[in-house]
Amino acid sequence: MEEKISQIQKDYLPKIASATTLKELDKIFLALFGKSGAITLLPGQFSKLSDEERHRVGPLFNQIKQVLEDAISLKREAVRETIYKSLENEKFTLQPPRLQAKRKGHLHLATQFKKEIVDLFRKLGFQQFDAPHIELDKYNFEDLNIPKDHPSRDMWDTLYIDTSNLKVEPGQLLLRTHTSNFWPRLMEKGKIPIKAMSFDRCFRYEAVDARHSHTFNQFEIAVVGKNITMANLKYLSDYLLKAILGKEAKSRFRPKYYPFVEPGVGIDSLCVFCHGKGCKICSGTGWFEIAGAGMIHPNVYTATGLDPKKYTGLAWGFGPDRILMLKHGIEDIRYFLEGDLDFLQKY
Ligand code: PHE
Repeated sequence: MEEKISQIQKDYLPKIASATTLKELDKIFLALFGKSGAITLLPGQFSKLSDEERHRVGPLFNQIKQVLEDAISLKREAVRETIYKSLENEKFTLQPPRLQAKRKGHLHLATQFKKEIVDLFRKLGFQQFDAPHIELDKYNFEDLNIPKDHPSRDMWDTLYIDTSNLKVEPGQLLLRTHTSNFWPRLMEKGKIPIKAMSFDRCFRYEAVDARHSHTFNQFEIAVVGKNITMANLKYLSDYLLKAILGKEAKSRFRPKYYPFVEPGVGIDSLCVFCHGKGCKICSGTGWFEIAGAGMIHPNVYTATGLDPKKYTGLAWGFGPDRILMLKHGIEDIRYFLEGDLDFLQKY
């Protein structure tokens, strides 16, 4: 019996010593101390022993049981220790692996584009002019030949500001629906010629979906002076399109109604994806709409204190977000306002 007990020790101590994982140690522990473990079953055989033998075997058994138990628990600690050590060297991060590469900040896609086109028009002598986001009805609508209650107001789904706590008449304050509010603000100053541009946010009461957002960018130019003609408008349109869509791009004018221009045009670009043949992007037409434009309406001069017989002017405005969606195949306009890391890092 004593030999049997010693044999268990001899068999198991090296196994414990060479174990490298907690799983292995659990297995060894079960083999010794489990329901039918070697150590567990032994005392069952003690009844066969003589008293004298039992007196020798008992303490030996207890000793060896203790030795094995201690060996296992010491080894467990050692294994744990090495696991912790290896974790120390491992980078612990909650970020998914695709985002773990070193990240460097950069300008948002829309801001990059803003820099690009603002620089483009600065070269032609245009000055940047930003008008307020919270705007008076006068500048967003009335001075732009859109009188109160006129049906043309329906062209813009407008967000009005609650004026109940302000010293402003109800309905007089709104979130500007377009960047066009900058022209009457500049025109009423009377410093002609004007050659101005704005790249900024606009707001509309839109049901938000992949193509519509309540907040979006517009880029707009306005030129007021003497002998400004549609030829200038055409030149500036082609200048823009070639710069943002490539040399092949060219513009086409279509008659279109906007209350503040006469004549008013929709500017289409030749589809640069199918070279005008017709594809999914241009809905088979070979062209896609880029901007609203036209020659500034005589009533806008009158409203801002200028003589419409003395001056002429042109303007166009478009949505840069839409252009970026086309250029980069971005399928949802909402990305522009969200902090989606995949989107932000991609561009
Ligand atoms: N302001 C117009 C819009 O937001 C666009 C436009 C600008 C049209 C300039 C004509 C001239 O719909």
